[in-house]
Amino acid sequence: MVEFALPKNSRVERGKEHKAGHGGTNLKQVQVYRYEPEDGKNPHVDTFEIDLDKCGPMVLDALIKIKTEIDSSLTFRRSCREGICGSCAMNIDGHNTLACTKAIGEVKGPLKIYPLPHMQVIKDLVVDFTQFWAQYESIQPWLQTYTTSPEKERRQSPDDRQKLDGLYECILCACCSTSCPSYWWNSDKYLGPAALLQAYRWIADSRDEATGDRLDELEDPFKLYRCHTIMNCTNSCPKGLNPAQAIGSIKQMIAERKT
Ligand code: SF4
Ligand code: SF4
Ligand code: FES
Repeated sequence: MVEFALPKNSRVERGKEHKAGHGGTNLKQVQVYRYEPEDGKNPHVDTFEIDLDKCGPMVLDALIKIKTEIDSSLTFRRSCREGICGSCAMNIDGHNTLACTKAIGEVKGPLKIYPLPHMQVIKDLVVDFTQFWAQYESIQPWLQTYTTSPEKERRQSPDDRQKLDGLYECILCACCSTSCPSYWWNSDKYLGPAALLQAYRWIADSRDEATGDRLDELEDPFKLYRCHTIMNCTNSCPKGLNPAQAIGSIKQMIAERKT
């Protein structure tokens, strides 16, 4: 869900701090990147002072409070507020993460909120995911089989099912891809850690019968081999997943099938 801009109802002057103004003692400065393509002006940062005693504990709570009480034109995505939908990914205090699971209390000093880096900004904290979704679609994220379907379900042993742990939990938030320097510079050709982790999720699935085709598709100097094991992706994943390891496993499978 995008928190759309309502008709402009802002009491904030561009570039000037908006004070909480009611004598609270637990105040926090929140600095938020703003960009309105239609106003023809450059991006800027708005500063809001909020009373933490009247705000929920998470960064998303602060954004909702600002939108509800101070500036209804502030625009951002969110849905589940439980770290499940992946829509509230943004750059908070210099790290890509989810606004709904990031506690305000973890941030010392002003809370700085920016859109995911190196993505086209549509408005404020909302970035364009068109290419990201096209890359996800390109890895064909569904079970592919060629043998006759069994009468009931395609079965999987507990051991084989366990191989999907650490892969299926990905919520496609893009925190990893947008923290990867290789993806910043080659995002038109390099698939990035999120799409590659998803590709490995199907390669690792014992029920899938398209492993060879999937590896053929990925064996490409740009799609896969732009990963230089810098590990930013793994360090930024808010779900604790390890895309760099998944990419390494794909490279290893490709190397092994040549021997
Ligand atoms: S691997 Fe982690 S950071 Fe990357 S898209 Fe999935 S959940 Fe988000
Ligand atoms: S390990 Fe690979 S995918 Fe992850 S940040 Fe580094 S280059 Fe990017
Ligand atoms: S609102 Fe769904 S992950 Fe944050």
